[in-house]
Amino acid sequence: MAADAVLTPLAVIRALQGAYARGARGPELLQVAAGHIRAAGPPYTGVYLYMLHDRELVLEAFDGRATEHTRIPVGTGICGQAVAQGTDLNVADVGAAPGYLACSLETRSELVVLIRRNQQILGQIDIDSDVPAAFDAAEQAAVKEVADALAALL
Ligand code: SME
Repeated sequence: MAADAVLTPLAVIRALQGAYARGARGPELLQVAAGHIRAAGPPYTGVYLYMLHDRELVLEAFDGRATEHTRIPVGTGICGQAVAQGTDLNVADVGAAPGYLACSLETRSELVVLIRRNQQILGQIDIDSDVPAAFDAAEQAAVKEVADALAALL
C-alpha cells in the first residue's frame, strides 16, 4: 500500500469500476483514468494513456497538455523503450534520458507504467511532471495499482 503517495489509487480504481458498471469501455475508461490521476495535482502535470497496436503505441486518452506524440513506435522515446524492455521506467531527469521525446519544455521527469494482463503488454500510463525526480517508489506503486485495475477492465 502506497501510504505516502500523492495519488490515492483506490479512489481512481473506484471511479474506473463505477464507469465500467455504467457501460464505459476502452477509450472511455482510459479517459476516466487520465482525468482522475491528473486530478491528484502536482507532481501530476500530464497523464497520457497509450495502447499497443501491433508495434506502435497509440494515444487513446490524455489529461493535461496536448502532445504531438500520438503514435510512438516500440523502441522509440521513453514510452517505446518501456515496451521494448518490458519494464516500467521512472526517469528522474528527462534532459539526461537518451531518446527522450519532448511533449513540453516544462517537463522535468516522467514515469511510464505498463498496463499488462498476465504477461501481455496492453499499453501504458505515461505521466509527465514539471517537478524534477517527481515520482518515488510509493508514487510508482500507486500508479501500478491503477494500471493493474485497468488491465482487468479493458
Ligand atoms: N516523453 C515521451 C513521449 C510522450 S509525451 O511526453 C506525452 C517519450 O519520450 O516517449
